[in-house]
Amino acid sequence: MIKTLIIYESRYGTTKKISEYMGLILGPANIINVKEFNEEHKKYDFIILGSPIYIESFEESMIRFVVENRDFLINKKVVLFCTCLNKNNNINYFKEIKSLLGSECIVMAKALGGKLKLNELKDEDYKILDSFSKETGITLKDADIFNLKEIIEFALDVKRYKDSLIPAAPVSKVKFLLEEFLNCHNTCTLSTGCDKRVRGTPIEYIYKEGHIYFFSEGGEKFANILLNENVSISIYDNYENMTKLAGVQISGKASIVEYGEKEYCKIAQMKGFKVEQLLQLPIKMNIIKVKLERAEVLYSKFKNMGYDSKQIYEFNQ
Ligand SMILES: Cc1cc2nc3c(=O)[nH]c(=O)nc-3n(C[C@H](O)[C@H](O)[C@H](O)COP(=O)(O)O)c2cc1C
Repeated sequence: MIKTLIIYESRYGTTKKISEYMGLILGPANIINVKEFNEEHKKYDFIILGSPIYIESFEESMIRFVVENRDFLINKKVVLFCTCLNKNNNINYFKEIKSLLGSECIVMAKALGGKLKLNELKDEDYKILDSFSKETGITLKDADIFNLKEIIEFALDVKRYKDSLIPAAPVSKVKFLLEEFLNCHNTCTLSTGCDKRVRGTPIEYIYKEGHIYFFSEGGEKFANILLNENVSISIYDNYENMTKLAGVQISGKASIVEYGEKEYCKIAQMKGFKVEQLLQLPIKMNIIKVKLERAEVLYSKFKNMGYDSKQIYEFNQ
């Protein structure tokens, strides 16, 4: 598992809060103030540096940290983010750190919206802004462009990048073990959702060639699928201990198979139903088909084979 270290600086708490939200999504992660960094922290694989912007620049303590730890950072993949009020100037904000670490090391950089509450400012900061306001004629006022959705989208982008760094087992091995796992289970949680409605349905399934099929008389999951084809499927063993982890989460696109049509009959046969009997039932038996897209597998068998226990499998490759 790739462990993330988020190192931040923050005067009034905004960058600290953003770092905490990012850590939730990027876990396993640790979040430290730049002053707390020590030798122990060099063990982390993936580094995120977050700083507020003060007078067009990263905080001095963060720049000093990068200068002092350049040899350590340069061998890692590093993501930068800053918190500011003028996001349009973001290219300039990152220039200094990028020139210290180089573009191979800095894999992503983003400016995120911050906050300014005048009545919370230390005298020194207030004076700087006050003289800026007098020089430019810009009226001093509170500002709040903190945007949780923007932060989460960024954290998910970073997570996708981080997942791409997982040392991958050979695709054929991942496919084999994943399909074996899917075939030797028969019940999953099918998660569907639309707006405020979310539903996790325990349901029997069959797996065949990149698709999962469900037979269902009906229910609220259909209300979600009709409005939102994106679904998630989880299949897992009971937890015993950390050396016997086995679980998979698969994202995919759901559709409802045309009742009584050729594909419907084929899937019914696959399941072992007699089609004529199925079509004569007093209620309609519906089939949901999910075209599988991406599986995130956490499986100790991979670790036993010398790979990372987490593996990603893309069905469309
Ligand atoms: C003295 C001072 C100077 C600032 N300079 C800038 C700036 O140059 N560009 C900008 O976009 N925001 C600027 N800001 C806004 C801060 O970046 C913003 O308030 C940020 O959310 C602070 O994050 P923190 O709470 O983590 O310290 C400034 C704020 C103060 C108080």
